[in-house]
Amino acid sequence: MPTGAERELQIYALGLSGGKPSVPVPVHLLEQKAKEILAPRTYDYVAGGAGGEDTMRANRESFYRWRIVPRMLRDVSKRDLSVVVLGARLPAPILLGPVGVQEIIHSDADVASARAAASVGLPFVLSTMSSRPMEEVAQWAAKVAESPRWFQLYWGKNPELTASMLQRSERAGYSALVVTLDTNILGWRERDLHHGYLPFMLEQGLANYFSDPVFRGLLAQSPEQNPAAAVQLWGSLFSNTSLTWKDIGFLRQHTRVPIILKGILHSNDAALALDAGVDGIIVSNHGGRQVDGGIGALDALPGVVREVNGRVPVLFDSGIRHGADVFKALALGARAVLLGRVYLWGLAVAGEEGVRDVLLNLAADLDLTMALSGYTCCRELDSSALCRSDSAEPLRRPRL
Ligand SMILES: Cc1cc2nc3c(=O)[nH]c(=O)nc-3n(C[C@H](O)[C@H](O)[C@H](O)COP(=O)(O)O)c2cc1C
Repeated sequence: MPTGAERELQIYALGLSGGKPSVPVPVHLLEQKAKEILAPRTYDYVAGGAGGEDTMRANRESFYRWRIVPRMLRDVSKRDLSVVVLGARLPAPILLGPVGVQEIIHSDADVASARAAASVGLPFVLSTMSSRPMEEVAQWAAKVAESPRWFQLYWGKNPELTASMLQRSERAGYSALVVTLDTNILGWRERDLHHGYLPFMLEQGLANYFSDPVFRGLLAQSPEQNPAAAVQLWGSLFSNTSLTWKDIGFLRQHTRVPIILKGILHSNDAALALDAGVDGIIVSNHGGRQVDGGIGALDALPGVVREVNGRVPVLFDSGIRHGADVFKALALGARAVLLGRVYLWGLAVAGEEGVRDVLLNLAADLDLTMALSGYTCCRELDSSALCRSDSAEPLRRPRL
């Protein structure tokens, strides 16, 4: 992983010979390029959120309200971005978060993302709704390097199917289980409803189901023979609105790997998660895709961190776009952050290379933000590095 200055030099050197990064560095231009490449309904599926998208806006506004207060003359010549998460040392506090149905963004889908993460030694979290079976993605990623991979579970109605997926993920070397709690049913997504578009109904993002022996055993004909019936079965099993805290015990019985709950926002839920004996928490509102009018995820972070009080790692996602965002999340107590849309724009623009560029650029931006603010390692960051600002408005973006 190059330092921030090394990454800058690589890019400026390219400029000297008349070149320009093929994957735009400014995140808004990267998104714009992805938008030009993707079909309108695909772009909207990725970019959109629930209802009036107020939670999505709140995610960014929370970042604007926290401001970094840089410190001077602190010898920042040697810096180390590495952090330890669940016993694994990561070169930077960044993971690729779980994102389903990546085949709509790029034909290499999850394989490209997992390989990009492995190439820089960062973890990849595979979604239940991945476009390739979990075993295949694991094999492709392992060819690049052995970096941690985690499996994300959407906990549906059929316990045997859930148990089967947990066993498969352990066998394929996924070393932690991320259980997403905020999607027990799909949110009201106006853009997708407008297009009448849900990719799963087009047999996309169902590879882990179609390749599962329990799922296949529930069908009269195989998914290859009768895909419509397989989609219908998936639809009948996906949503499980009856789960409660008591059910966490079921997961413990069926997996030996650490369990991390994704989607915790309320400090009372953080306390319940600790009571349930989980190994980690991800503060997240699913990028504003589930509840409209919700709290900005960064605003929920300090309360959860206070409640957890160092007993398990707290990770964070929802709204991370730049190095400063990672800095702020770490300063408010997150051990590491997960990326969502920002890496999907890289995937759309240049597949595996695009995702790698996004990771390298974000790590470089974080490294320079740390150096310029007077910090040499992630452990040093705490809320004394930040102050609150009254304004929730971003400054106007410069025209490039
Ligand atoms: C297109 C798309 C698909 C997603 N699929 C999943 C998924 O399958 N499982 C999951 O836990 N989260 C999923 N998420 C949520 C992300 O893991 C993450 O919480 C969110 O993208 C963070 O917000 P941000 O993209 O604004 O940074 C998805 C997000 C997007 C944009």
